[in-house]
Amino acid sequence: MCGIAGYLGPHNADQILLVALERLKYRGYDSAGMALLDQGKIVVRKAAGTLEHLAQKLITEPAAGHAGIAHTRWATHGAPTEINSHPHQSSAGRVAVVHNGIIENHDALRKELQATGVVFRSQTDTEVIPHLIAQAYAHTADAGGDPLLAVRAVIPRLTGSFAFAVIFADFPERIIAVRQGSPLLIGRGPEAMMLASDIPALLPHADHVLHLDDGHLADVTHTGVEISTFAGAPVTATFARIEISADAVTKGSFDSFMAKEIAEQPTVLERLLASRIQVLAGCDHLVMPDLGVDLATVRHVTFIACVTSWHAALLAKRFIEHLAGIPVEVEVASEYRYRKPLAIPGGLAVAISQSGETADTLASVRLAKRLGLPVIALVNVMSSTIARESSGVMPLFAGPEIGVASTKAYTAQVLALYLFALQLAKAKGLLTPSAEASILEDLRTLPDQVRNTLAGCENAVSEAAALFAPADASVFLGRLGEHPTALEGALKLKEIAYIHANGYPAGEFKHGPIALVTAHLPVICLCPHDEAYEKMLSNLQEVRARHGRLIGVGHADDHHLHDLCDHVFPIERARAKALQPILSILPLQRYAYHVAKRRGCNVDQPRNLAKSVTVE
Ligand code: F6R
Repeated sequence: MCGIAGYLGPHNADQILLVALERLKYRGYDSAGMALLDQGKIVVRKAAGTLEHLAQKLITEPAAGHAGIAHTRWATHGAPTEINSHPHQSSAGRVAVVHNGIIENHDALRKELQATGVVFRSQTDTEVIPHLIAQAYAHTADAGGDPLLAVRAVIPRLTGSFAFAVIFADFPERIIAVRQGSPLLIGRGPEAMMLASDIPALLPHADHVLHLDDGHLADVTHTGVEISTFAGAPVTATFARIEISADAVTKGSFDSFMAKEIAEQPTVLERLLASRIQVLAGCDHLVMPDLGVDLATVRHVTFIACVTSWHAALLAKRFIEHLAGIPVEVEVASEYRYRKPLAIPGGLAVAISQSGETADTLASVRLAKRLGLPVIALVNVMSSTIARESSGVMPLFAGPEIGVASTKAYTAQVLALYLFALQLAKAKGLLTPSAEASILEDLRTLPDQVRNTLAGCENAVSEAAALFAPADASVFLGRLGEHPTALEGALKLKEIAYIHANGYPAGEFKHGPIALVTAHLPVICLCPHDEAYEKMLSNLQEVRARHGRLIGVGHADDHHLHDLCDHVFPIERARAKALQPILSILPLQRYAYHVAKRRGCNVDQPRNLAKSVTVE
C-alpha cells in the first residue's frame, strides 16, 4: 500500500507535495514525509500520524526546494513512527527514496549491508534501497557519478512488488522512478513534471499522464521524461490527456468524501446506464464493451473478488444463474489463489475490483490465466494492473472513489454485473428483444429511485443512528438478494464506526447467532417485498419475542414492518426487481455514516485501513 508522489517545477515543492499526499491518503495514512532537493542537499521532513502533523512540521521547520519526493504510509514493516516514515536515506544522506510495495528479500539485503558497516535507522524493508543505491552510485564515481546506472544496478537485487522514486543530492533537477508490480504514473503539465501512485495526485499541475509499465524506469527532469527498460533499452513515452477534473477529487460542499460519494450514486448509475444503453428505432438496446471472449460458449463463471467487491459478486451469481442459466462460483480471492482450483471447460473468470490493484485479486487473475481460463475484469480504474492483465474490461465509470469505505463503486458494480448477466443471456439466445427493451426501460428509472430513497430514508436513519450509536454490536439479517446487503451493511458499520457487526442469511439466525439477542442489540432486518418477505417477518417475530431492538429496511407503506419494528428505513420498490439490493443498501450506508460521525470516527480514513490493498 502507501502512496508516493514527486514534483519538479518552478514552485516550492512542499505545498504541492502536501496536496498530492492528501489525494493519496486513501492508500495509507499512518505517517508521511517528503524530501526536497535544496542547493546540493537533501532536506527531509517526516511525521508520524496524520498528514496534518507533516503540514504542521513544515510550518515550524520550513523546507525549500523546487524538486522533491513524498510519501504517505500504511505500515507493513515497522510501526508507524517518524523514523519508519519515508523518505529513507543513505547513510550520508545523499540519496533519498520513497517506496510503495514490499521488498521481500529485505532481510538478506539488510544483513549483507550491515556486514559492510551500514547502520540502519529504521525497521522498514525500504531502507535497503537507498543504501544499495548509494553503494552502487559510489562505484560509478570514476565515470563522474551516474545515478541511472546505480539504480539499474540495484533493481535486479530486489525481489517483490515495488514502485519507488529516488533523488540524489548531486542531481538537483532529477527524479528517477521505477515500477515493478505497484502502480506509478508520470504527469506532464505546462510548467511542471510530476509522478504519483494515482492520477488525482497529479492535479492540477499535470494535464497529461503516462502509465509506467512493470519493468520500466523513468528519468524525470523539469523538461520531460525518458523511459527505458530496466536493462536500458529506450521506450517511447506515450502520454494521454487526463480526463478527471480537479473537482472530482475534492469534497465540494460535503463534510467527507464518503458523504459525497453516497450522494453521487444516482449520477454514477445514470452515467453507467448511458454508456450501456443505446436507442435504436425507438427501442432500448444493450451495448457492452468487447470483452474478447465468445460469451455464447461460456458454460461456467467464476467470480474472484475481495470483500465489498465479493458482495457484489454474490449478487451477480443470482443474476447470471437466473437470466443466463449458467452455473456461477463466487471465490474470495485470498482463498482462490492458494486453494488449487479446478478450471472447468467452458469456464470464464471475472475479476471484480474497484481499484484494480488488490494484490489477492491480481494474483488470482494470474492464476486463472495460468489455468487456461479467459479472464475479464470489472474495474473502476481503467489504467489499473488488473485491467491491463485481463483480456477484456468492463469499466464502472464511478469516478474516483476516495472514501476508504466503498459506496458508489459497490452500487455501480451491482448494476454493471446485472448488465453483464443480460449480455450473457443475450449471447445464449435467452433474452428476446422485447424482454431486453422492457428490462432496460425499468433500469432507466433506477437512478431516480436511488435519489428518492436517499432523500426518503434520511430522517429515520439519522434518528436511529442517534439512538444506537453507543451500541457495541449489531446484527444484520437478509435472505436471497438481501443476504449480500446484510453482509455489506455490517461491513460498513464495522469499518467506519468500529462496531462489531455481522451479517447473516436470516434463515441461519436461529441456528446460533440468535443467542446474541438482548434488549440492547440492534438487529437490522432487510424486508423489501421479495420472495423471502414472509420468511423475514418470521425472523422479525423471533427477534421481537427476545426483546431485540428491531430496525426494518422496507417499504414505507408496509404496516407489518411498522408494527413489528422500532424503526423503519423506507426504501422504494425497485422497478427492476432484481436490483432491489441497490436501494436496500442506501440507508445502511447512511446509517454507518451517521453512527460513525456520532462516535467521532473519521469516516474517510478509518483506523488500520487503506483503500487499495496492494499487499497480502
Ligand atoms: C470496503 C472496501 C474494501 C474493498 C476491498 C477490495 O468498503 O472498500 O473491503 O472492497 O479491499 O478492493 P477492490 O474492490 O479495490 O479490489
